[in-house]
Amino acid sequence: MNTHVMDKAIGETRLDRETQGVIGKPVDRYEGPLKVSGTAPYAYEQLKGEEVGYGFVVTAGIGKGKIVSVDTLAAISAPGVLAVVEGDKVVRASAQPMSAGAQTIDGQVFHYGQPVAMVVAKSFEQARHAAKLVTIEYDAAEGRYDLAKEQHKGVPSMRGDMSSDTTRGNFDKAYEKAEVKFDQTYTTPSHHSAAMEPQATVAKWEGDQLTVWSSCQLLETNVQQIAKGVGVPVKNVRLLSPYIGGGFGNKLGIGPDAVLAALGAKAAGRPVKLALTRQTVFQATSRRSETIQRIRLGATKDGHITAFAHETWAANSPGNGFFEPAGISSVFLYAGKDRKITHRLCETDVLMTSAVRAPGEAVGMLALENAMDEMAEQLGLDPVEFRKRNEPEVAPQDDTPFSSRMLVDCYDEGAKLFGWDKRPVKPGTVRDGEWLIGYGMASASRANSLMKSSAEVELSPDGRATVRTAMTDIGTGTYTILQQIAAEMLGLPLDRVDVVLGDTSLPPSAGSGGSWGANSAGSSVYVACEELIGTLAKRLGVDADGLTLKDGFAIAGNRQIPYSEILAGESLSVVGTIEPGKTSDKTHQASYGAHFCEVGVNSVTGETRVRRLLTVAAAGRILNEKTAKSQCYGGQIWGIGSALTEELVTDKRTGLLVNHDLAEYHVPVNLDIPQLEVVLLEERDPHASPLAGKGIGELALAGVGAAVTNAIYNACGARVRSYPMTLDKVL
Ligand code: MOS
Repeated sequence: MNTHVMDKAIGETRLDRETQGVIGKPVDRYEGPLKVSGTAPYAYEQLKGEEVGYGFVVTAGIGKGKIVSVDTLAAISAPGVLAVVEGDKVVRASAQPMSAGAQTIDGQVFHYGQPVAMVVAKSFEQARHAAKLVTIEYDAAEGRYDLAKEQHKGVPSMRGDMSSDTTRGNFDKAYEKAEVKFDQTYTTPSHHSAAMEPQATVAKWEGDQLTVWSSCQLLETNVQQIAKGVGVPVKNVRLLSPYIGGGFGNKLGIGPDAVLAALGAKAAGRPVKLALTRQTVFQATSRRSETIQRIRLGATKDGHITAFAHETWAANSPGNGFFEPAGISSVFLYAGKDRKITHRLCETDVLMTSAVRAPGEAVGMLALENAMDEMAEQLGLDPVEFRKRNEPEVAPQDDTPFSSRMLVDCYDEGAKLFGWDKRPVKPGTVRDGEWLIGYGMASASRANSLMKSSAEVELSPDGRATVRTAMTDIGTGTYTILQQIAAEMLGLPLDRVDVVLGDTSLPPSAGSGGSWGANSAGSSVYVACEELIGTLAKRLGVDADGLTLKDGFAIAGNRQIPYSEILAGESLSVVGTIEPGKTSDKTHQASYGAHFCEVGVNSVTGETRVRRLLTVAAAGRILNEKTAKSQCYGGQIWGIGSALTEELVTDKRTGLLVNHDLAEYHVPVNLDIPQLEVVLLEERDPHASPLAGKGIGELALAGVGAAVTNAIYNACGARVRSYPMTLDKVL
């Protein structure tokens, strides 16, 4: 057992020696071939060949009210039906307890599409048929479905230990006195993180022991949520998520499928498979809140911000304290002595809101970076120059030093590579046929965090190593980077390291979320390897620093000894744990980037086409250039979508999420995406983790959409402050 508390900067480490030469390399994903050949079993594909029941969920057809009665008689007698589950536990299963406050009152309908019953049958088709025969009588009530109408009732909230307000000095006074003032309000729509693999679960009981395969991001939290929902002690539940087809926030908590499958399996007396339909994923998991954001900037005539305010109003359902932290980057991104960043939470009776990729930055930086562009124009400054003039020396909210910050390098490198100097200064002046051409840019930032995480690393006498942790790989490359870290540390070729993930019987892990996964899980592997190396050195009677490990050999002085000889027939195994400390040398940690975009806006139709998009980012040590860049491409594509098409629409009369499938919820397709370019700058952050890396997953999404809409303005002069910027708004 080896634990490292991260409370001060770490100097050079074994990783810096790059002896094995695999750390940071653009290695293909370890589990990729399994996934694309259909041999990586996803949750729903478990228990092949076993006799199972299939579940189908019945959802509420009103937005708010009470269930008066549930008539299951016809469904029970339908062909193949094994059980119908209804009642309080079903209602509670849908209150995904991502935020601990989620308490439902039994029999209540809190949102349209809430699960109210589940049928289990011998086949999926029989279950689906019988589900239609369940008749529910409601006592409907008036619901609140419009954030704008609830805005005045907004209250401060808490999200973990994050307060909804960060203020310094006296904004109002400073703004009043400012030479140049800017005041605009932006709105962003609700978003949904409907991953390619829907929420799906297979549940199996053996006595009072429950095994659950489910598509989840944070196994340690999720297994507790399942135990609580089902009503059994957590030690009786084992949760497995070895392969996951995408997780963008709404798998941070469990879906209703996890508890319902377990209840169904109990009732039916056999294992149950339950995959939510795409429509139910949209209506019964969680979504990103729509927001209203007011930004006020006061500056000197030469472009130095003196007063900075970013106020956000977001929605959630009753009892849920999560708020979309849209001002999260505004806290530290730009200078300004007097500042006020606030969030107000407003209750609505729509599906609960929760984390969707880059919670906060994804929509907050649409507003902030658009406002920065508008203010730059008002000041007569180039948008890059305006940002540079407001680059803070230390974190502006409390004067904490930055651990590392290469934002200006990202601007400079990006501007050079993109040819920013060719940007049309006046909107509407460059044409290509009927297309108006424009350039736009925006900053990217994402606060960095390290979470407690453990991993076991075993070195066996045959010269192989195995990493085991309850970490997940949501498609981000966790398998591969953990393999790379262990291989580099232990001096092994990649194909001699195996990685086992996604099982709560393994050492507990931070899981995948908030861009902390790679750093946290990776650091635990590093910590375990350190101790293993210490043991090898001791056995050889040398100092660990003087020991070089390469290709399965320990090299000390002129001795070269194979591991098999040192291990003498017995495996060595260590559990390593990383823990965030109460940092003695406190620093503010974040990853940074800059986006540069060229669009064409059709002067006849108002249609926007993104022609080029470049992102330059710095996120500490890059563990795998390929998987890191792939996540950035994902962020760029999502950002283009959030600028131009993405919008989850609520029917303000009924609370129905209208476009609850991928046919009508518009995300970019191949034709919408031009050649994307991502450049990662060389950086080490010794304060962030033993790996000297920072989070990158969500960074590249932050700000992209504003780079696109700023380019639209530059192309045609249309400044739209309500996202997405569909062509009717451009015209
Ligand atoms: Mo991410 S929204 O933390 O899964």
